Amino acid sequence: MKTYFTSTIFRKTIASLSGVFLVLFLLGHLLGNLQLFISGEAGQKQFNEYAFFMTTNPVVKILSLVTYTSIILHIALTFYLTIQSKNARPVKYAVSSGTSNSSWASNNMAVLGTFLLIFLVIHLKSFWYEMHFGSVEMDLWGNKDLHSVTVTAFHELWYVLIYLVSMIALGFHLKHGLESAFQTLGVRTRKYSSAITNLTTGLVLLIPIIFASIPIFIYIKNI
Ligand code: HEM
Repeated sequence: MKTYFTSTIFRKTIASLSGVFLVLFLLGHLLGNLQLFISGEAGQKQFNEYAFFMTTNPVVKILSLVTYTSIILHIALTFYLTIQSKNARPVKYAVSSGTSNSSWASNNMAVLGTFLLIFLVIHLKSFWYEMHFGSVEMDLWGNKDLHSVTVTAFHELWYVLIYLVSMIALGFHLKHGLESAFQTLGVRTRKYSSAITNLTTGLVLLIPIIFASIPIFIYIKNI
């Protein structure tokens, strides 16, 4: 028997909530990574102390588990919903309208999402895996030197380019994702519509641009 918990609207709600949580994660992650702009030994010391705190603090550990769960739920549910909507409409629309056509948006969301998943695997292998399971050297203050691992990675042009292209994909993914999440969650009411539009535009532009500026800054500083 079909219950609320197996319904499409429930799956869409969880996909939206996990997406919104991931945006909050991105904002926190971005703030932490801004420390990479601090130059010299002060920056290295501060970033490594921060990385130590982030990998050992019990509250952060729980938040990390929520993040991993959100990533898995978000991928599984959006994948399922995409397949479901494709099966429900085996014949494509004859006319594509630019804004209200969910088929166009969901097709692109799937491609962008898959691209971001590949980015995430590369990203986690480079930093997260190294920090937790790799052999990262110690810095002068007795912390794992994740700062040097990160900065050294961004000395390679090809690696910086992966980040730049991925941040463009992230921008488009966030745009369609946030718009549809706010719609699903019912927060885009007439009263808040323009505030939601401004919030979405701000996040969609600022998150990818500031993320992208970090590898660019480190690469340029090294040449
Ligand atoms: C210039 C951009 C970025 C830099 C320098 C950066 C740096 C890092 C570093 C150093 C870690 C390891 C932290 C640790 O294990 O203590 C990490 C983890 C992570 N990054 Fe990034 N990151 C960037 C962008 C992104 C983006 C755009 C995403 C998602 C689309 C992302 C998702 C993650 C996730 C999910 C983790 C694991 C977090 C956890 O264990 O709780 N990062 N990042």
